[in-house]
Amino acid sequence: MQRPRVKIVDVLKLEPPRSDLRVKGWLRTVRDSKQVVFLEINDGSCFASLQAVCPATLADFEAVRKLSTGSAVEVVGQLVASPAAGQRVELQVTELIVVGLADSSFPLQKKRHGFEFLREIAHLRPRTNTFGAVFRVRSALAQAVHQFFGDRGFVYVHTPIITAADAEGAGEMFRVSTLDPAAPPLDPAGKVDYQHDFFSKPTYLTVSGQLNGETFAMGLSDIYTFGPTFRAENSNTSRHAAEFWMIEPEMAWCDLDDDADLAEAFVKHLMRTALERCGEDLAFFNKQIDPGLVARLEHVLSASFERMSYTEAVRRLEQSGQKFEFPVFWGANLQAEHERYLTETLVGRPVFVTDYPKEIKAFYMRRNDDGKTVAAMDLLVPKIGELIGGSQREERLDVLTDAIVHGHLDPVEYAWYLDTRRFGTVPHAGFGLGFERLVMYVTGMENIRDVIPFPRTPRHCSF
Ligand code: 4AD
Ligand code: MG
Repeated sequence: MQRPRVKIVDVLKLEPPRSDLRVKGWLRTVRDSKQVVFLEINDGSCFASLQAVCPATLADFEAVRKLSTGSAVEVVGQLVASPAAGQRVELQVTELIVVGLADSSFPLQKKRHGFEFLREIAHLRPRTNTFGAVFRVRSALAQAVHQFFGDRGFVYVHTPIITAADAEGAGEMFRVSTLDPAAPPLDPAGKVDYQHDFFSKPTYLTVSGQLNGETFAMGLSDIYTFGPTFRAENSNTSRHAAEFWMIEPEMAWCDLDDDADLAEAFVKHLMRTALERCGEDLAFFNKQIDPGLVARLEHVLSASFERMSYTEAVRRLEQSGQKFEFPVFWGANLQAEHERYLTETLVGRPVFVTDYPKEIKAFYMRRNDDGKTVAAMDLLVPKIGELIGGSQREERLDVLTDAIVHGHLDPVEYAWYLDTRRFGTVPHAGFGLGFERLVMYVTGMENIRDVIPFPRTPRHCSF
């Protein structure tokens, strides 16, 4: 019987000599030195490739010499200590099967490619060192999310993707419709008649699972969602995507302080997991992408996050003597440059900014007693800016209804949401963590387009 294939991550842990190992993967490089051909085989199971040495005695040696980068092969051989520098072990090949050839037009040749070029061939990016590492880290972090909440007894809730409610009240939603855009049915007033649409009303892709999540927290106490969210905002930055993944915990009997405590423990857990489980990949990022990355992550783990009110943050920004592109004043939205000054220059580590003016925050946030601010929190981190947005929720029916009306939203559309305040309302809080921004933070990758498999941004939706 044939020996089963062994993944390269496991091969590289073996003590040589080991005979009769079967390995399958794609060729990263092919080096022909006349008497032997050196193959570098990678199967994505780890960062490192396996060096396979094909001697001239190999059947079909001439075919081996013609192999090119990108081809898929299966090799059988003996694992030996490598006489050359660069690898501890190598495989002396006794049998080679070409599974799938890649011709010379394979675009990923040995040289380093720019990330912009690689975005154009995002379907081939998983074959590169950098993207293999990014997506292994992304996967480990996603698993760590479930582990964190699972260990704390949170219930994982699958909130809907299609919705009629604007969870943020900001009007940045993609429409979902089956109407013919060229000839939609019209009502007597000449407007599109959504009665005839699939759901008999206007519907959209969700911007956040929070409102549905809240209804579950009002029965299951501690819940979280982890799913795709969509924003039709025309933001062309390295930190915005039209489709991104968000993690949203929601906790009954919880105030803003408890919320920030959980967020801090959560971010630290994710960081720790990456350091523990993705050491080889992080070492690569630390060397090639973002020098100082590992030390920074370790520093974040050891320090407690700063907490500062919005009012205090604005005061510190005004006093900074810094020249900002956008003006700073109480009531203004904090821009990326302000956020980065706070977390990078002023504090030098993650900082929660809390209690923002109610005018610049979402309708569901709990109004503070000062009448001017709401119990909001944003977690700002170096190099990224806003990683988390959260709040204590307005649990008082009259105040919430007032905020909905004030936000020019339709209380009828939110009747189900208001019911949670009508029937056994309790103080509760939650937050949303942008998963791609977390992956950027942990890997040092600078563009959100390079930490999501197939990025969707304004004017870009390929693959
Ligand atoms: O601050 P946001 O808009 O908050 C909410 O959606 C709340 N409903 C969350 C909650 O309280 N349950 O978004 C939360 C996080 C941001 O801090 C940011 O990290 C990320 O989601 N985010 C984006 N990430 C990538 N591209 C975009 N366009 C993003 N918009 C927000
Ligand atoms: Mg926000």
